[in-house]
Amino acid sequence: MGLETWMLVEEEELELVMSNGEDDNKAGHEQALLTPYQMGPFLLAHRIVHAPMTRCRASGGVPQPETLLYYQQRSSPGGLLVAEATQVMPAESEYGDVPGIYSVEQAEAWKDIVKAVHDKKAVFFSEIWHSARKTLSESESKMLVQKFRIAARNAISAGFDGVEIHGAHGYLVGHELLRERGDSGVETIIQKNACRNALEIVEAVVDEIGGHRVGFRFSPFTEYTDYKISDQIKLGVYLAEELNKHKILYCHFLERMDLNKDASIEPFRNAFKGTVITSGGYTREGGNAAIASGKADLIAYGRLFLSNPDLPKRFQLKAPLNKYDRGTFYSGTKVKGYTDYPTLEELEFQS
Ligand SMILES: Cc1cc2nc3c(=O)[nH]c(=O)nc-3n(C[C@H](O)[C@H](O)[C@H](O)COP(=O)(O)O)c2cc1C
Repeated sequence: MGLETWMLVEEEELELVMSNGEDDNKAGHEQALLTPYQMGPFLLAHRIVHAPMTRCRASGGVPQPETLLYYQQRSSPGGLLVAEATQVMPAESEYGDVPGIYSVEQAEAWKDIVKAVHDKKAVFFSEIWHSARKTLSESESKMLVQKFRIAARNAISAGFDGVEIHGAHGYLVGHELLRERGDSGVETIIQKNACRNALEIVEAVVDEIGGHRVGFRFSPFTEYTDYKISDQIKLGVYLAEELNKHKILYCHFLERMDLNKDASIEPFRNAFKGTVITSGGYTREGGNAAIASGKADLIAYGRLFLSNPDLPKRFQLKAPLNKYDRGTFYSGTKVKGYTDYPTLEELEFQS
């Protein structure tokens, strides 16, 4: 799978946002995104979350000073940021220059970044990740559980408020395409096997840092398996119910992997007892509507936050948005397409 698989929504679709045309008042959900929310121990001032985004700018696996600036620019008092996917162990990856959190050097570099985010009074979670999408042997799986545990410990030592375990996009959940044939002859996926690795990791991480600091990211309609939609719904509900047993803080859904599919997260929202974050192609209007309707508690924004460091403020003012430059998502200098997207204030100063 290539990097482009993150691109979940067609370019034209987000172009619509740039005009910010629709009026939330008329739609009856005036800026629900801007209302406070108590997420476990964290009092959030608004519901606009920075989604985790790989930017391939961590030379040698170590986050650089530019990364500090990137997150600092996107921090607002009481805002929640989830940092980019961060390796729990050295591993081959299709992505170059992704950060890790397994060495002292990496942890030290993250410490400075976390401090910069906290200085702006934002809440910061690390998305901890193993980059292999495959079925692991028994011993590999045991080792991975330990690596996640240690990564979570390192993240907390570096000052992060918590970790988000990356189980979306075909990571951790659902590699084992095992099916069993019931008495009626109908095949069903063996949910226990599909989630086993992920749940062992959750258990260890919760044991290490406490459930109130743990989130789980999951794309129920992932394209990395050959499950049917009905299987994916069953699997997602099973996973949500199992996550409840560990009393984790939140579940972060990535709704859309294929726009042609029915991508309702309602069954998982109903099954999961903690905070629900959702993401995938949300506009300001869409986010307000989703919060107002109770579909989710928080909305994570990827591309719009990438190109608008002051996204919460722009939403508040219903101001026009900077367009993102797809060409610099994963490459470019440490400035271009990374830390040089202007804020509204900077734009005013330039004009
Ligand atoms: C450049 C880029 C990098 C991404 N990297 C990650 C990642 O590291 N981990 C992850 O879980 N999702 C990743 N995603 C998915 C985003 O978190 C988000 O769910 C997705 O972009 C949909 O939200 P959006 O429509 O608001 O952009 C990435 C997306 C983009 C655009």
